[in-house]
Amino acid sequence: MSPWPEAEVQRLPLAAPLPDWVSRLDRTAFGSAWKAPANHEALWVVAPWAFARWARIPAAGEAELLRIAVSPEARGQGLGRRLLEACQRELAAEGLEHLYLEVRPSNAPAIQLYRTCGWTPCGRRTGYYPDGEDAVLYHFSGSA
Ligand SMILES: CC(C)(COP(=O)(O)OP(=O)(O)OC[C@H]1O[C@@H](n2cnc3c(N)ncnc32)[C@H](O)[C@@H]1OP(=O)(O)O)[C@@H](O)C(=O)NCCC(=O)NCCS
Repeated sequence: MSPWPEAEVQRLPLAAPLPDWVSRLDRTAFGSAWKAPANHEALWVVAPWAFARWARIPAAGEAELLRIAVSPEARGQGLGRRLLEACQRELAAEGLEHLYLEVRPSNAPAIQLYRTCGWTPCGRRTGYYPDGEDAVLYHFSGSA
């Protein structure tokens, strides 16, 4: 049996060094790796297969999903959903009940993940990505 279905979702302390596997997966999934999280960010992982990086805006009760990625060999087995739902629960418990994200309309796996986790489309940014593709904005309400 694959090891990832039982692997634990953990929130990494911001002061902890960014694990190398996060940077590698970041590059694999997005072509670039971000530096260590800033003070307003939060990072959840299912080590060493998946991460979700958020920007928190506590005064507004909001957070934005910056990036979520699952290792190619672990995709399609429910790991992304488990990670995202854990983040949604923990952010709601912190009082961050309005969650937002941007996604390419061509990213069918991500859109399916978001829709099945309770996110709904709430806007569009024309030509948002460097290659000219629009971004679709999604919202999740933690109080629903
Ligand atoms: C998007 C991503 C995080 C999904 O993670 P995952 O672990 O494969 O997703 P899950 O297995 O939890 O599946 C969640 C839902 O998406 C669906 N899904 C997963 N892969 C899919 C695919 N290739 N095509 C269509 N739907 C797909 C699943 O069927 C499931 O829906 P269901 O319950 O209705 O069946 C993963 O594909 C990934 O890392 N992609 C590259 C990075 C990326 O694009 N991130 C999002 C933009 S920030």
